[in-house]
Formats: sequence, structure tokens, C-alpha cells
Amino acid sequence: MNSEAMERAREAEAQLTDDERFSLLISVMGTNAVLTDKDPRIPDGVPMSAGYTPGIPRLGIPGLLMTDASLGVTNPGYREGDTATALPASIALGASFNPVLARRSGQLIGREARSRGLNVLLAGGLNLHRDPRNGRNFEYLSEDPWLTGVLGAESVEGIQGEQVISTVKHFSLNCNETNRHWLDAVIDPAAHRESDLLAFEIAIERARPGSVMTGYNKINGTYAGGNEGLLQGILKGAWGFPGWVMSDWGATPSWDFALQGQDQESGVQIDVMMWGQESFTAPLRAAFESGEFPKQRLSEMVQRILYAIFDVGIDDWEGTPDVDPAAHAAVALETARQGIVLLKNDGVLPLEVPSTAVGRFKIAVIGGHAQLGVPAGCGSSAVTPPGGYAEIHSIGGPGIMGSMRNLYLLPSSPLAELQKLLPDAEIEYDPGMNPGEAVLLARRSDVAIVFGIRVEGEGYDNADLSLPWGQDTVIDAVAGANSNTVVVLETGNPVAMPWLPKVSAVLAAWYPGQCGGQAIAEILAGVTNPSGKLPLTFPKDLDQTPRPVLPGLGTPWGTPTTVTYNEGSDVGYRWFAKAGKKPLFPFGHGLSYTRFGYGNLTVQDRGGVRAEVTVTNEGPRPGADVPQLYLLEDPAGPRMRLLGFERVDLEPGESRTVELTVDPRLLACYSTGRGQWHIAAGNYRLALGHSAGDCSLEADVYLAESWFGR
Ligand code: GLC
Repeated sequence: MNSEAMERAREAEAQLTDDERFSLLISVMGTNAVLTDKDPRIPDGVPMSAGYTPGIPRLGIPGLLMTDASLGVTNPGYREGDTATALPASIALGASFNPVLARRSGQLIGREARSRGLNVLLAGGLNLHRDPRNGRNFEYLSEDPWLTGVLGAESVEGIQGEQVISTVKHFSLNCNETNRHWLDAVIDPAAHRESDLLAFEIAIERARPGSVMTGYNKINGTYAGGNEGLLQGILKGAWGFPGWVMSDWGATPSWDFALQGQDQESGVQIDVMMWGQESFTAPLRAAFESGEFPKQRLSEMVQRILYAIFDVGIDDWEGTPDVDPAAHAAVALETARQGIVLLKNDGVLPLEVPSTAVGRFKIAVIGGHAQLGVPAGCGSSAVTPPGGYAEIHSIGGPGIMGSMRNLYLLPSSPLAELQKLLPDAEIEYDPGMNPGEAVLLARRSDVAIVFGIRVEGEGYDNADLSLPWGQDTVIDAVAGANSNTVVVLETGNPVAMPWLPKVSAVLAAWYPGQCGGQAIAEILAGVTNPSGKLPLTFPKDLDQTPRPVLPGLGTPWGTPTTVTYNEGSDVGYRWFAKAGKKPLFPFGHGLSYTRFGYGNLTVQDRGGVRAEVTVTNEGPRPGADVPQLYLLEDPAGPRMRLLGFERVDLEPGESRTVELTVDPRLLACYSTGRGQWHIAAGNYRLALGHSAGDCSLEADVYLAESWFGR
């Protein structure tokens, strides 16, 4: 808590008129491709963006100019010709397991927002990858609360270090897109604290984001924006969050959300489209006049907004930061490099042109529009890259997100980049439109590289884990024609791999951003050693998951839907461990062109559990590894939890001792009865591993009983 900012907020709020107070409680969406009529509440000269809230000039309080978001400064038609650095998807940042990179990404988007006069970033998606069909998983970091919270916090720190307010979203259980405005997400409250809420708790306590955005759907029967237990009870009560709660765009059906803990209605025009009215304007003002909405609460809402303004310092900008597009492109490239995961490699990678075959070594590059660029996720997070997209293919679909559901191709061609890196190879492209044609090229090539892509995005869940447009058939046929087949996946989620036994290597490249083609080519050619680790589990099929059939999938837009997350806090690898299932590829998995060994694991409880392990690069080339510490068993029995991780870069033969300090909440269970975390007395079995499915070193530690937190 920043007591000076709080004092300033109280003093400023006391000087406001009621009209000024109410003006702060909404944001108005700028003119864009969908909302073509400019709202009169946005003054001339104000750059269009996702949301605008007027300031109070006489008190030096700036207006709020809000922009999306985690992958870069978006521009879906707000500002003619404006482009920005298009980072890789957050799932790729998650795969880097690299907090330093998360902070640099945050700094980048914070700086690019500020350079445009935008002072609130709607970034910081912290929802967990609960469901591998969720169309927005590319915008989120991982299936684990610790990895998500730690990386999310660094991103927020990076953004707010540029004096731009960061927002963490979508509070607090928004893990499917199907009928999201009418979906009720049901979860055991204690399990909710140990999973999705824990990710928010960690990020909020570490980085103090100015704002929290609630999700669209209901949680245990009550809309997130009107959920007093979550907002007043946990976020503002137990955690003492001092900033403000904004709604999502079009997620405020009623003024009384103001009484339940929501402080601002966002994108009021979307509420008119969704619910037929704005809520925090005339209806809330009427409730104020009637006494139903008390002055004290009005003052508190305003003070929270002012607190964030003063705490982050958006009222105190001096000058406009320089933006170095090349330096920012380098961050995008490094994030892509570190986020690409080598899932399988029978030895075909890295590609090397034999000295005896110069000029005759044939490489087939097939599908994925690889001659043009790399795909990006769609929806509100889509960033128009420098120079614009290579191509946009409209996909469409039901609901208000249909117009934003496109195959966006960023201009970074894996084909062109591979040709640059392997000039001695004869590289030929096939569009991968049909198996028969692709096979003809594959058959006469030494290596066949097949791309598998999928359009995923906001407003939609995938029907299953298959690749669309017959790509699985093409991959299978190519693998049948060439024993050196490499698959490069560019998706926002895990996919099923019916062709896996037939291919020699698989890369998960996700949506790799504006330099993604270069990063993919570097890893294929061995210029970069892959180091990414899966931030979520790849199941063999949906039958392995908690919900083989997703309730509501395929029902008409607007159908009320209930999803019961009966896996509770056992999300992802936790579920697979508990259910005794072996996934296709486990959380934390990722191969390298070198190899790493672990030794000397020690675990001690010195007022907190600490572990040490020695990591050695036992292979022939430099590389990075991510040793992972897991809980395997607590006194009640098997219970898997990621307890810690650290990314280490090592030269061949180099060793380093890694120290990991364990957050006690990861060892504890949450007691809703007592409202505290509980560590039971007894033995805890820990393990150090390369992934959740490969824990080689084990160690026990005895812990005394303790109760803590709120
Ligand atoms: C969207 C998204 C949210 C985004 C907001 C503004 O619908 O759910 O993540 O920040 O609206 O574009």
C-alpha cells in the first residue's frame, strides 16, 4: 500500500463534485471498425482506444486512455495506420519460464503505450489453462498458478515501471469462451483459492497492479463483476487490494454491481448492445439520488481509481519515451526463441547440409502459409505489426467476436528465413492444400517440414484437439512419404497428434510473433538451441481431461451454460498425476540439442522450505534448462504441485547450484472454514525433475503444522 498515494486520493476525491465523481466511473470505447459513431464524450484530439475516462484537469488528474494488451498495443481501427511490436503469444512467454523476459515484454508494451499517450494497459491475462479447447489460452501464461503468478507479476512490474497502469484479468475464473456472457463457472471455493485465485494473489501481492478486470461469466452463480464474495471478501478484504475493479467490455448488466465491489463500467457502448443500457451512468445516478447507492461507496470507488493514478504516476509523466523498433523486435525474437518447445526429436534436428550434398540437399517446406508468415491469435489482443499483416483471411463466426475472428499472418516467413540460414540446401515450398500434391514434393526431398496451424481466439472454444483444413491428413501422408518429417505447430493450444509415431520431430512454436519465422528457422537450423518447456499439458485426447465433453459447446450464441470445474485445484499436470494418466507430453517438457543432469538435491525447512540442486550441461553445446521442483506427496497422500523453477544458461560441462525457495501456499491447503492456509504436520515428499512426468531426484522434509494468511 502506498500511503502517500492513498492520502492524495482522499484529498483529491474530497474536492470533486458529484458530476466529476460519476464521470470517473465509466470508460467509453473509441471509434473503431465496429463502433463507427464517435461518442461525444470523447473530446476531439484524444487518440481513440479501447476505453476513455475523462480526467479532472483542474486537479491535474489525467484522463484514462486504455489499450489492449498483453501481446502489444492493439489498434483494431482506432488510429489510422498505427502499428506496434507484435509479441509472441503469452503461452510462448509461459513456455520460456523466464521472469526476466516477462518483465522486458511488459516494459516494451508499457513504453509503446506511453509513446502514444495511452496510460492504462489492459494486459496481464492470468487465467489458467484449465481447458485445452479454450480459444483464449494463447493470451494466458500457463496451467499452473505459481508459474502464472510469477511471470504475470514481472509483466505488470515492467508495464508500471513505465508509469502506465497495468490491469490483471479476467478475475477470477474465466477458462472457457463458450457463451461466456451466459456461462456459470462452478468450482469449490477452497480449490479456487488454491488455483486460479492463487495466480492472481501472487501477481497482485508482488506487483501491485493498478487495476483488476473481472471476467464476463458467472462464478458459482453470480457474475464476476457483481460477486461480492470475490471482490469485497477476497480481493479487497483478505488481500487488501487498493486499486480499482473494472468490468470487462459489456459485462455490467446492472448498476448494483457498484454495491458488490465493481468500481468502473468499461466500454459502456457494449453494455447497450448486450443489455440495452449503460449501468453506471443514469441508472447508478438515479440510485444515488434515491439513496440506494450511498455516497460513501461512490467516494470509495473514485478514491480507488485516483489511488492507482497516483501510485503508478500517470499524472506525473515527463516527456515521451523513445521507442526503438529494432530493440523491441529483438525482444519479440528472443521471446519466440525461448518459447519454442522441441517436443520430439529422433535426431533429424538440427538440420545440417552434408558437405557431400551441397546444392543437392533438398528440404520440403509444406503448409501453414509458411511462405508468407506466421499466424497470430485473434480477438481483442491482436496486434497490427510494423508494416501491417502479410495477409488477413476472414474466418467469421457467431456472436460479436465474429468480425475479429481472422487468420492473421504476421510478415515473418519461416520459408524465407530458412533459405537465408541454409543457402546450400535446395528448399522448395508446397502449400499443403492436399496430401497428394504434398507427397510428391516430400517424396523427392531429404527432409520434409510440415506446418500445422489453427486459428484460435476470443469468443470461441475449439471443438476438439484436431488441426483444421485436413492438415492432420497432410502430415500423415507426408510422414508416410518421407522418414525425415518434422512438424512445426503454430497453434494457441495443445493438439492431438495421430501422426506422432510416424514423424521424426515436433516443434510447438505457438503464435510466435512478428519475428517468429526467424526463430523457427533458427531452431530448425540449429542456430538457436531450443529451451522452451511446456507451460501446459498436451493430452493424448480429450478423454484424458476432466471434461471430455464441454457443456454448451455448439449451442446457439446466448445459451445459458454451466461448466463445473470438478477437478478443483488439480489443473493440468495436477489432474494427470491424481488420475494416474500419462499425457502425450507433460507440463514442463522440452528437449534441447544438448542435455542436462541434476545432482545433490537437498531440501531443508528453515522457517520456509528451501531446495538446492546442481545442474550440469553434460552435452556438446551451450543451452538453457529449467529444473523444476515439485511436491509429490503431503501427509494426506499423493498431491502434485509445482513448487519452484529457475531457468539457467550453461556452457558445455558447466555446473551451477540452483536455490529454490518455496512459497508456503503451494504446500498448503486452503480452509474456507477458517479462512486461512493450512500446512498439516508430517512428511512432504519433493522431487526435482525435467518435467511433471520426469522427476528424477526425490527428497523428504518434515513440516510442523501451521496456519497462515487470509
Ligand atoms: C474484451 C476482452 C478483454 C479486453 C476488453 C477490451 O472483450 O475480454 O480482455 O481487454 O474487451 O478490448
